[in-house]
Amino acid sequence: MGKEIRHIGIIGAGHIAEKMVSTLDGMADMDCLAVASRTLEKARAFVQRRGIPRAYGSYEALLDDPDIDLVYVATPHSHHYDVTRRALLKGKPCLVEKAFMANAAQAQDILDLARERQVFVSEAIWTRYLPVAQMIRRLVAEGAIGQMRMITATLAYEISAKERILRPELCGGALLDLGVYVLHFVRTCSSSPVVRMESLCTKFETGVDLSESVSLVLEDGTLASVQASAGCQGDNVGVIAGTKANLWVDDINNPKVVRIYGRHHDLLAEYPVPPQITGFEYELHACRDAIRAGRIETEQVPHEEILYITRLTDELRRRWGVRFPMDA
Ligand SMILES: NC(=O)c1ccc[n+]([C@@H]2O[C@H](COP(=O)([O-])OP(=O)(O)OC[C@H]3O[C@@H](n4cnc5c(N)ncnc54)[C@H](OP(=O)(O)O)[C@@H]3O)[C@@H](O)[C@H]2O)c1
Repeated sequence: MGKEIRHIGIIGAGHIAEKMVSTLDGMADMDCLAVASRTLEKARAFVQRRGIPRAYGSYEALLDDPDIDLVYVATPHSHHYDVTRRALLKGKPCLVEKAFMANAAQAQDILDLARERQVFVSEAIWTRYLPVAQMIRRLVAEGAIGQMRMITATLAYEISAKERILRPELCGGALLDLGVYVLHFVRTCSSSPVVRMESLCTKFETGVDLSESVSLVLEDGTLASVQASAGCQGDNVGVIAGTKANLWVDDINNPKVVRIYGRHHDLLAEYPVPPQITGFEYELHACRDAIRAGRIETEQVPHEEILYITRLTDELRRRWGVRFPMDA
């Protein structure tokens, strides 16, 4: 039996840190104990505004706080590796925002370190922890749509003014920010390996990807066709088409309803998603359950799965010529 996980420490007082605090505010069994920022002024302003007990003016100081049970890494992708590595070396379990690392070499290094030190680490790809992800997988596996043939999904938001999206040194681009969700949607539907991949992308002037379209052939014969963009508002719908019916997801980035439509677009079944705080509570509980059980990875997103997706994104970036300073 592992340690109890209650107090979360947040690294990086930015946009997603705010949402994590709102999640923890709604949870009875976990709380945000501290926030660390690169400057003490920013950390203090954040904790005062959100009613959090402790502020740290360096990431290292939070990692040294013995009362922090789980570190949530909420910096740009470029800064995940260094802080996660230092946390694991200090024995601190970590939940690292997506995309887990800049590239597969970094991901492999961190996962090796976690195994060597027997310290928990996972990726905060929150959609994989939602109960609806398990439900979609089960419906497909139980034959609700017949034999699965095609998967289509889009995730696109107009976020092109954000520094961390634009700049290669912050590991910008649509793929690591939004493309990972559509790839994970495919993997939610099927764990069958990718046997062929074709893709296209357009780029920002900075050289990172703006919009992309990726087609994947899976070993089980399914064709997946997914799109992501950091420059427009998409419908963000996902459809899994089978020989008897299709499964329609209203928003792959936080499904509110899943529907099964028959051959004549007749509604066969509807599955509303139960109310949630923000949805992040499920990833937090998955981390807690894994650590309690003495595991270093979650059941929902095992380390092999994190690596699999990172290798796909590495390969796509290689084909597009989207390079980050930390790529070998
Ligand atoms: N799960 C989701 O739904 C979701 C949604 C959006 C983003 N994300 C992920 O969350 C992470 C952070 O995204 P965000 O939107 O919160 O980013 P953000 O607001 O731009 O930045 C987060 C924080 O990172 C810190 N930081 C450290 N080094 C930095 C640097 N060189 N330049 C800029 N900031 C730096 C800053 O905190 P301090 O100044 O306090 O140190 C900043 O406030 C990313 O991995 C992103 O993909 C997840």
